[in-house]
Amino acid sequence: MRRDPLLALRPWESPEVTSWRRLPMNAVDRRDGALSLDGSWHFQLVPAPGASSGEWTRIEVPGAWTTQDVGDLPQYTNFRMPWDDFPPSSPATNPTGVYERSVVIPADWAGRRIVLQVGAAESVLLVHVNGTPVGISKDSHLAAEFDLSAVVRPGDPATVRLTVIKWSDASHIEDQDQWWHGGITRSVLLYATDPLHLADVTVRARQNGKLWVDCQVRNTAGALPEGWYATGALDGRLLAQDAEFDRLNADDLRVSDFLGEVRLSTTVRDVRPWTAETPELYELTVRLHRADGSVADTSSHRVGFRDVEIRGRDLLVNGARVFIRGVNRHDFHPLTGRTVSADDMRADLVVLKRFGFNAIRTAHYPNDPTLLDLADELGFYVVDEANIESHDHAHEIADDPRYLGAFVDRVSRMVLRDKNHPSVVIWSLGNESDYGANHDAAAGWVRRHDPTRPLQYEGAAKLDWADPSPASDIACPMYAPIEECIVHALSGEQTKPLIQCEYSHAMGNSNGTLADHWAAIESIPGLQGGFIWEFWDHGILQRVSDGRPAGRPGAGLYDNGVTAPGHRWAYGGDFGDSPNDGVFCADGMVFPDRTPKPAMYEHREIAAPVRLRYRQGVFLVQNRQHFRGLDWLAAEWILVRADGRTHTATAALPDVPPGGSETIPMPFPLPEGESWLTLRVTTADDEPWAPRGTDVCLPQVRLSTGATRVPEPVAGPPVEVDEDGLLLHPLLTSPPVLSLWRAPTDNDELGGIAARWRDWGLDALVRKVVDVQREGARVTVIAEYATGAGTVHHEQVITRIAGGLRIEETAELPEELDDAARVGTVFETVAGLDVLDWYGQGPWESYPDRSAGPPVGHHSLPVDELFTPYLRPQESGGRHGVRRFTLSAPDATGLTVELGAPSQVSVTRYRAEDLAAATHHDELVPRPGCVVHLDAAHRGLGTASCGPDTSPQYLVAPGTHRWSWTLRVL
Ligand code: GAL
Ligand code: MG
Repeated sequence: MRRDPLLALRPWESPEVTSWRRLPMNAVDRRDGALSLDGSWHFQLVPAPGASSGEWTRIEVPGAWTTQDVGDLPQYTNFRMPWDDFPPSSPATNPTGVYERSVVIPADWAGRRIVLQVGAAESVLLVHVNGTPVGISKDSHLAAEFDLSAVVRPGDPATVRLTVIKWSDASHIEDQDQWWHGGITRSVLLYATDPLHLADVTVRARQNGKLWVDCQVRNTAGALPEGWYATGALDGRLLAQDAEFDRLNADDLRVSDFLGEVRLSTTVRDVRPWTAETPELYELTVRLHRADGSVADTSSHRVGFRDVEIRGRDLLVNGARVFIRGVNRHDFHPLTGRTVSADDMRADLVVLKRFGFNAIRTAHYPNDPTLLDLADELGFYVVDEANIESHDHAHEIADDPRYLGAFVDRVSRMVLRDKNHPSVVIWSLGNESDYGANHDAAAGWVRRHDPTRPLQYEGAAKLDWADPSPASDIACPMYAPIEECIVHALSGEQTKPLIQCEYSHAMGNSNGTLADHWAAIESIPGLQGGFIWEFWDHGILQRVSDGRPAGRPGAGLYDNGVTAPGHRWAYGGDFGDSPNDGVFCADGMVFPDRTPKPAMYEHREIAAPVRLRYRQGVFLVQNRQHFRGLDWLAAEWILVRADGRTHTATAALPDVPPGGSETIPMPFPLPEGESWLTLRVTTADDEPWAPRGTDVCLPQVRLSTGATRVPEPVAGPPVEVDEDGLLLHPLLTSPPVLSLWRAPTDNDELGGIAARWRDWGLDALVRKVVDVQREGARVTVIAEYATGAGTVHHEQVITRIAGGLRIEETAELPEELDDAARVGTVFETVAGLDVLDWYGQGPWESYPDRSAGPPVGHHSLPVDELFTPYLRPQESGGRHGVRRFTLSAPDATGLTVELGAPSQVSVTRYRAEDLAAATHHDELVPRPGCVVHLDAAHRGLGTASCGPDTSPQYLVAPGTHRWSWTLRVL
């Protein structure tokens, strides 16, 4: 190994070396007829490149070695590099994996050009075949191809050795906020072509049916042969007569000895354009012929006819200003790190479709190529992002000429790979790498090579959203407050569409004010949407017994976001990794097993294709889509009455054009008392992403209000309280007391809010009873709580009413206590009351600033299912707008609570302090009874872990809070 010329170059500390003898990237699909080298390889991990070899073991390809128990474990850092030295340094201890296997080269590949493709290797790949150095590649998220024709013999076995060096100069520009892994993370294959081959195919297909196909032709056997030509066929789904391209005239061929270029073109009449709502695809086959007509090479492509452009400050798809309902997506898997199968990716996109997303930013590198095939097919607008993030040393690297080649290499190779995907509507130069000449160089390459798509880069427009820099056509800030976006859009200064590349940080219990973002986006020209950060919670499944990654899939390891006993979702630090950034990697809309978090349901409603408005007996149905009618949807009316009755009726959706609205008649006579009408909208037929009957949205309007009846006091024995004025009740194991605190969410912790609560002592309130007054059946209890922000006075008046008690409460918060977590009551029940039935918003968890989704209704769930297992235990399980609930045992015993006003309620097995003390779920011990919170006020969730805190209207104000509730035994 030591005298190896590839090692002699020391490519792991040479940013100028981006590759050696790697073939140019292209968009020719070679998966058909290829020989897969996936599976078990011989493997050894050595401590540094060139270190003498040790024990051979086996490893699965593809798959990061860090999840395969070979001695090197995952490490999580947000942006700090795991070692201190400046770029282009790499550490002396540098895990290096040597993969080896033998493969028999098919005998019928004799005379053919034989190519090795390595899907992805992290971060430097060295290739040797039969002991001969073949090539070098960098960029952990793009494939590398090497011509093996000269080093293998068809019919004979060949030994393929892939050496992967974990840390390198390239790691400094792969400093994305995610786990560090090592190894080969995408498939490896061999394929063969004729020496005369398609070197690249570039497809341009416009909304008006015009199609151009540019073919590049090369011959590795020498000069191009006389008389070659190309033909194309477009799947005749639409127009048979347009299916065959004409053989081109010699005049149309531009041929030199070594590079042939030819353009095929046609116009498809009555073309069905591609959009994310209507992902119409046509099958294109390009054939390269020898002079005698025989076929030398073939390439297949799926074509979508569409235009994308920026006009003024609007991004248009096929001429329409579309809202970008996006999410940032990493290639992620809780068992394999970042090796994802086609099924995994399809499942990701299916979830996104079902929850109303129409766009993906491939944060922060080109995702697995299959993802784009699926995005074309299922319909997503994609911001395709190059694998460049130099976060920790951003400023130095952006202008460092040693990295110039790497920037252009990474951006151009992504464009060459992905240019034919209709789903890709925008290129991105990367993430969080400051802004320098290296970016402009890469931007220049893209502008010239692909003038058909806009380009974005957050760093180029960071300080001034209207900056006319060449590197961003879009103002794509991250985590900008709603007000700032509005001010910009109204300023008269806006020059570019404003589409946030990241917003609404989904860490833990989060995504507060998403609906407020969208209220602004939908009403203010110039605002067009954004990409939520992010899709995944990057928890790696870990065995608790030995702290190792659980590795390969096994049955029943997780379900519904919850891990099997003996396992947990690991985050930074859990593998002994240092430095680490803790739980900051768990900031997604789905759990590591892809179970949607409650915020997804909120998003589904915000993104609803159908809206319902009600004014004076008239319903208005709005079609909020850009391209489609409502004919793919079915609907049903659900009338919800406060008295518990519900009625349903089939709804006929009117024919409403995109963007339009229609009135429809009232389906039921207007009922007495409070009532709500929900339009349950479902898929009318099977969709590629949802079977027929899948919920699409549940828009709801309030039909009528009812008066709340205050229960009359009744005579009876005195209300039982102890000498401290604490209620004694057979079903309560802990009496109702004041609560001002919640188990801090990640937003509360990282936003510094939880620290204030602790300073004030809200997490450990001490109750001091001041007075207990008995007056007939009624008792008044006055208590005080000393906090670091002054004294809180609390009064409870407990009255006997028919069948139970009424509790009226008042809390006075001093002016300094201007940001409590909640003001409300907490009590605990006896064991056995395991089912909650409630009338209020549901069934999903909701909070004051995340309550646009769940409709008001009569809901029922087991108590254990009310709790959301956010990776780091925190406040969870709340339900907004609850009017009444019953907690019952299977024998129908239990209690009923009626709230004086719709309130935030939670029923869980955990006290706030239980949650706050735990770092992972496996540490939590559920209590046998229920911990019940009734909140007169509850702080919104906001997104302060990275971005704006909750808006002022969702804070808990100081001053007087009054609330009342009744407690009855069933
Ligand atoms: C952004 C960054 C993301 C991620 C996020 C916080 O600044 O682009 O990669 O770190 O913050 O979760
Ligand atoms: Mg970063």
